[in-house]
Amino acid sequence: MYSTIESLMDEVRDRFCQVDTCPDQGARIFFENAGGALTLKSVVETSAHYAAIPDNQGRDNPASLSAARMIETSKVNIRTFLNAEEGQVFVGESGTELLFRLISAACLGTPKGGAVLGSTLEHPATRSACVRWAGIAGKSYSTAAHNDATGTVTAQDYLPHITPDTRVATILHTSPVTGMSVDVAAVAQAIRKVAPECIIIVDGIQHAAHGGLDIDAYDIDGYVISPYKVFSRHGYGIAWISDRLAAMPHDTLIGAPNAPWELGTRDAGSYATFSDVVGYFEWLGGRVSNATAPRAKIEAAGHAISAQENALVAAMLHGVGGEVGLADMPEVQIIGGIDNPHREGLVSMVVKTLPSADVVAKLSDHGIRVHIRRADHYSANILTPLGLDSCIRVSMCHYNTKQEVQAFLAAMRVITA
Ligand SMILES: Cc1ncc(COP(=O)(O)O)c(C=O)c1O
Repeated sequence: MYSTIESLMDEVRDRFCQVDTCPDQGARIFFENAGGALTLKSVVETSAHYAAIPDNQGRDNPASLSAARMIETSKVNIRTFLNAEEGQVFVGESGTELLFRLISAACLGTPKGGAVLGSTLEHPATRSACVRWAGIAGKSYSTAAHNDATGTVTAQDYLPHITPDTRVATILHTSPVTGMSVDVAAVAQAIRKVAPECIIIVDGIQHAAHGGLDIDAYDIDGYVISPYKVFSRHGYGIAWISDRLAAMPHDTLIGAPNAPWELGTRDAGSYATFSDVVGYFEWLGGRVSNATAPRAKIEAAGHAISAQENALVAAMLHGVGGEVGLADMPEVQIIGGIDNPHREGLVSMVVKTLPSADVVAKLSDHGIRVHIRRADHYSANILTPLGLDSCIRVSMCHYNTKQEVQAFLAAMRVITA
């Protein structure tokens, strides 16, 4: 009989910084994980260790060789986390910067003309890059409309827009506004049936903390994550690219061996800290299953994370500890419907009787951190069709507890009274 995350909660929470206190606010419940997840303590220690090292990579000295070895090991760890046997992984400035880089190379590196296809669910990182680089490359750009009621987009929604000259396509793995995931493999399969050579690039930034990444199962060419949203720190993004995409012309130093995608000196600490993230998933997987191989442990961790997050979402929607759930608060409207199987730890809502900004501020007064999403360049694509100017995003992770959800519901009861 193996442990559940709930039964391991003290050990889990002990691995993270600022779990229940904020240095600026004091005691607080953290439901702003979609904005940036909690940071592992090991990441902070590793960051300090690498920040102190003056030596650069590519030198014949022990410190340089040790950093190079660590980077190679971390790349193996990242591949295991992503389940990506082929292709290459590299770090960049941020998720947004990497998506722009991959999309620009795909638009310019595929045959002239043709079309770029995305969806209206997407974050502006992919949408903006597609509009800009499709235009420069002389390609058209169109979007499959997501479903307002379910807050996600399906292969069926993409289907009418896919043509044999769809050269580049983008898919959002999970929406940071609705919290709903997309069946990436099904969308990619639908695209490949009609446009087998299409370069498919996936924004996995909101999905990564929820576990179960499986690039080998998706049949795609690019996948981007932001480590600060998956228990590491700010300051870098990670991309995986297929051999096909890697071989396309891209920004690189003339004459550099193997035309690397990394630009300039890498922060060794970024690789090292992502190894800490992978190590955490392996630790967790080892505690919740009898798996011993690294990938099997990561998969087990992903299943346990989903189970815990689903339990938290159920508690938030249907009530816990005697508190009424959001679904039974008449003035609360839940985006994407109530029992939605695509939901990944996130509940976006509006209180019909109160401005979202007031609800966020009142929750903060109760020591609960959530975030407003406005109908601006980040979220208008989701909110405007729903006739909303804003919503309140409550985003949880597996280290959150039912007691925290109960405290949130108690605060909501007072705020909506
Ligand atoms: C789905 C999605 N894509 C892209 C981004 C941008 O990521 P970054 O801040 O690493 O540039 C975010 C950030 O919130 C996101 O949620």
